[in-house]
Amino acid sequence: MMQALVESLFLGFWGKTSLVIVALSSWTCGSHAHGLPSYVAAVYEHRVTLNPEPRVPLSRSAALRHLRQNLQVYSKQASRAALQGAQILVFPEDGLQGFNFTRSSIAAYLEVVPDPQQESWNPCEDPQRHPNTEVQQWLSCIARTHGLYVVANMGSVQPCSRDSGSPCPPDGRWHFNTNVVYRSDGLLVARYHKQNLYFEEAFDTPQHMELVTFDTPFAGKFGLITCFDILFQQPTVSMVEKGVRQFIFPTAWMNQLPLLDAIQFQQAFSLGANVTLLAANIRSDELIMTGSGIYSPSSAVYHHAQRGDPEEGQLVVATLRPLGPLPDAPALQVCALVKCAGGDARSCGQEVLEAQTKMDFVLEGTFNTKHVYPSVLSSHYTLEQPLLHTMAHGTVTMAHSHMRAGLITAALYGRTYHLDLH
Ligand SMILES: *[C@@H]1O[C@H](CO)[C@@H](O)[C@H](O)[C@H]1NC(C)=O
Ligand SMILES: *[C@@H]1O[C@H](CO)[C@@H](O)[C@H](O)[C@H]1NC(C)=O
Repeated sequence: MMQALVESLFLGFWGKTSLVIVALSSWTCGSHAHGLPSYVAAVYEHRVTLNPEPRVPLSRSAALRHLRQNLQVYSKQASRAALQGAQILVFPEDGLQGFNFTRSSIAAYLEVVPDPQQESWNPCEDPQRHPNTEVQQWLSCIARTHGLYVVANMGSVQPCSRDSGSPCPPDGRWHFNTNVVYRSDGLLVARYHKQNLYFEEAFDTPQHMELVTFDTPFAGKFGLITCFDILFQQPTVSMVEKGVRQFIFPTAWMNQLPLLDAIQFQQAFSLGANVTLLAANIRSDELIMTGSGIYSPSSAVYHHAQRGDPEEGQLVVATLRPLGPLPDAPALQVCALVKCAGGDARSCGQEVLEAQTKMDFVLEGTFNTKHVYPSVLSSHYTLEQPLLHTMAHGTVTMAHSHMRAGLITAALYGRTYHLDLH
């Protein structure tokens, strides 16, 4: 949705012709987050039960026996979170299968996760639609049973063909490190394939970078990123630049002082990007993994295990205010001189075809985009070549004189492409 605002600056009258200089900006307001009351979020730091021999291939039923041990913990924590009023619950990266698999040993753990943009599927209600989707059914039923949004990380597979000429790994399938999101009735609403892998030999990097967000009725839009992604331009900074203000961050983060301790970086990201971050980490002493929390630019509720603490999971619950797009983030920046249709300021901006007044002018504006398009349109759709057009340090100047016909519009039209929302 777009809204346009004429901010208005300077109103000038030249004889009987009135002209007005306008700065026009517009912004996107797709998620109606402003004015929503506070909501309750939860993240679970999980001590994942590991496969003791992650490099040895196993059967699907053996993989499911292993996965169920972790899923049972998820069910129990969802029940605890719901009792505390949580509307969304986030589980960590690798929290179901663990780590250190090979490409072939992870195969039994993987499920095909359909694209929620292409089909609407509630695995808890309709478990038969896709075969071998026990993990998705379980997660969807957790969301539905406890009436909260559930975000979890799992391994997914997409069969591909080497014959079609499009890229496809030699074994004929893509393996993705995947976040899945279920609505409070169990519907699959988002799927995100981790873009920036961190030495994960079992998984592939997606061919196309996706910016994945989903909407909630209680807090508006959330963006999905996974672990190492948080340090990269794509997809993280791109989403921030597009106005996403709330992020979900499943991670399996090894702490590294002095700069990259989990909670330290989680808060730094929230403050630096002025966003909310729901971060769920794994708990493992051996792998130096702990540190989960719920951060807003003005608050931090977190857990970080200390040396000697029992090695166990931890639920973190916090109340937050929804964050929507910043109202002053323009998608468009314009500085223009336009002829008004009448003497009234409200007539400015209406279509005008004729003008008599010729004038010399200088139009100058400071833009936060390099893409600024200058134009001079005079009476009866004739163009004039501006005499001067320069650009330096974000300031664009256009000067013109000795017009051949009356001035309809002189404009510097700036496009902030990077702020466009899809
Ligand atoms: C996984 O491998 C890393 C080294 O690559 C090792 O430090 C770690 O202990 C292993 N983790 C498990 C769970 O086997
Ligand atoms: C952060 O966002 C809030 C609105 O949510 C805004 O009022 C504030 O100015 C922003 N802070 C910075 C440093 O951009």
